[in-house]
Amino acid sequence: MDKHIYLENITVAFPAKAGTVQAVNQVDAVFNSGEITGIIGETGSGKSVLGRSVLRLTAANSRITGRIIYKNADLLQLSEAELNQIRGKTIAFIPQNPDTAFDPTMTIGQQIMEGPVYHKKTPQAAAKLLAIRQLQRYAFPEPHKIVNSYPFQLSGGMRQRTLCAMSTALSPEWLIADEPTKGLDAMIRRQVCQLFFDLKENMQVSIIMITHDLRLAQKLCDTIIVLYAGTIFEQGTAGELFQTPLHPYTGGLLNAQPHKSLLPLPGMPPSLIDLPPGCKFQPRCPEQTELCRLQEPALQAVNGRRVRCWKYA
Ligand SMILES: Nc1ncnc2c1ncn2[C@@H]1O[C@H](COP(=O)(O)OP(=O)(O)OP(=O)(O)O)[C@@H](O)[C@H]1O
Ligand SMILES: [Mg+2]
Repeated sequence: MDKHIYLENITVAFPAKAGTVQAVNQVDAVFNSGEITGIIGETGSGKSVLGRSVLRLTAANSRITGRIIYKNADLLQLSEAELNQIRGKTIAFIPQNPDTAFDPTMTIGQQIMEGPVYHKKTPQAAAKLLAIRQLQRYAFPEPHKIVNSYPFQLSGGMRQRTLCAMSTALSPEWLIADEPTKGLDAMIRRQVCQLFFDLKENMQVSIIMITHDLRLAQKLCDTIIVLYAGTIFEQGTAGELFQTPLHPYTGGLLNAQPHKSLLPLPGMPPSLIDLPPGCKFQPRCPEQTELCRLQEPALQAVNGRRVRCWKYA
């Protein structure tokens, strides 16, 4: 039995007063085990909603349809109790905002120990040792001290690393990390990058990495998925995709990076309540044609990659 995660026709909608927000639209993808898959795209493109949908961690008002197959089970069909056996233990999640992930009244040690004590019934003393070892692994110079401190006593970078320590305390098979380098300075970013590389190479953790940090994605990821308006616009190996982006949207994203031309993509993403006809990117696309305005292109295979653009049909 393979350990890939298969997304089949995943749609996530949020019914709202003004209409239904289509945050994720008919996504088909395979996250390969043993790899780091990056999900990139502009703000609001559906990265977090898609990542959260794997463990059904989207807001209570969300409607998720489709299938998410992992080890022959559809995660969308499991009961809460069954899914709780997977959350954190087999598939761990690092949320986008680290501060919401901590309980301010508990010590760092207690928070790292929570998973092992809950899932594996590890005795307190052994769990504390495990917490200290985890902190050591994540480059805390004084883990014995940190284990007894509270989240507010740590810097942003330390909290991010603590989250990694918490999420991997149970040696999960998968880690879904939502913006793990957000707000970190260059040195800590490099540390976190190394840490993810070690997780993959030395601890056999497969990773879904959601990020705006395209340099991180290029360095670390095996495969990249590009999202726009909740839909996959392009997918390929990181090497190929960064070298020769196929979709004009991907090209625009890469050009907007500080070390490139810093040219922002023109226009704004569409309203997810009222999507444009044809290709969802056409109102902003410098290469749009009549066909793009009339009909939505399918996600097609092109030389082992996938792209949603009439240019390649
Ligand atoms: N609970 C909700 N109710 C209604 N709309 C929502 C809800 N959660 C997310 N959305 C909408 O879904 C869309 C996708 O949001 P998402 O958070 O996945 O974007 P993102 O790509 O992660 O953006 P960012 O890069 O800023 O984190 C957005 O338009 C957002 O407003
Ligand atoms: Mg997000």
